[in-house]
Amino acid sequence: MKGVILAGGLGTRLMPCTKVTNKHLLPVYDKPMIYYPLKTLVSAGIEDIMIVTGGNNAGDFLILLSNGREFGLKDISYTYQEGEGGIADALRLAENFADNDKVVVMLGDNIIEDDISDAVMEFEKQDAGARIFLKEVSDPERFGVAEVKEGKVINIEEKPKKPKSNYAVVGLYMYDSDVFEIIGTLKPSDRGELEITDVNNEYIRRSTMKYSILEGWWADAATSFESLFRACQLVRK
Ligand code: DAU
Repeated sequence: MKGVILAGGLGTRLMPCTKVTNKHLLPVYDKPMIYYPLKTLVSAGIEDIMIVTGGNNAGDFLILLSNGREFGLKDISYTYQEGEGGIADALRLAENFADNDKVVVMLGDNIIEDDISDAVMEFEKQDAGARIFLKEVSDPERFGVAEVKEGKVINIEEKPKKPKSNYAVVGLYMYDSDVFEIIGTLKPSDRGELEITDVNNEYIRRSTMKYSILEGWWADAATSFESLFRACQLVRK
């Protein structure tokens, strides 16, 4: 199983802090944001990790994370996303790296309390398809929202005005190698991005999507200064 952390995008919602750095390098309490998803993957036993980044400060990831030895890795792979074409566009850049293996994908601004080792092991055993993580929240309209019926996810809507449930889709996804073929069929959304929600809905359509519920806290640290502040508080606590 390979790991991919998506840390591209321009971070416009955190201006002016992101004028001179990539948002995933901003501190969340006592560590740079990118440390948290990296530790989540490493703790789950994933040793081959690629970071997809972009923007003007991509080189700083190398200075910060170097060869990954500090995290117990032999090395880290890096690639560069031109522009801001969406989460699925960033993931597409990891196709060669994935080399037909399954991938665990984590958004560089998502921080979770849970250890995902068991879910990763279960996904190793899953024949094919995908697995997402859901978390009940009070403000689902900020996220991808899953409609769950009889133990199955039947649809996901991206930032719906009238959410059909309180289950937000966490920025942590597991995919088989079909994911790259699916991304190849996507069309940009109204906001001009290749949406990860469209990828997930295709797995749902193929009846190969499973899900787990996150038990511990979850922070999407970089959608606003409020979310960054909340993430700092959760980490500190
Ligand atoms: O945090 C979970 C949510 O993340 C999900 O519930 C949503 O379904 C999903 O679309 C996503 O929503 P956001 O609006 O929070 O995504 P955002 O544009 O903030 O991007 C999240 C991360 O993805 C960002 O930290 C870096 C990476 N990314 C994003 C874009 C648009 C890239 O690497 N390249 C990109 O072009």
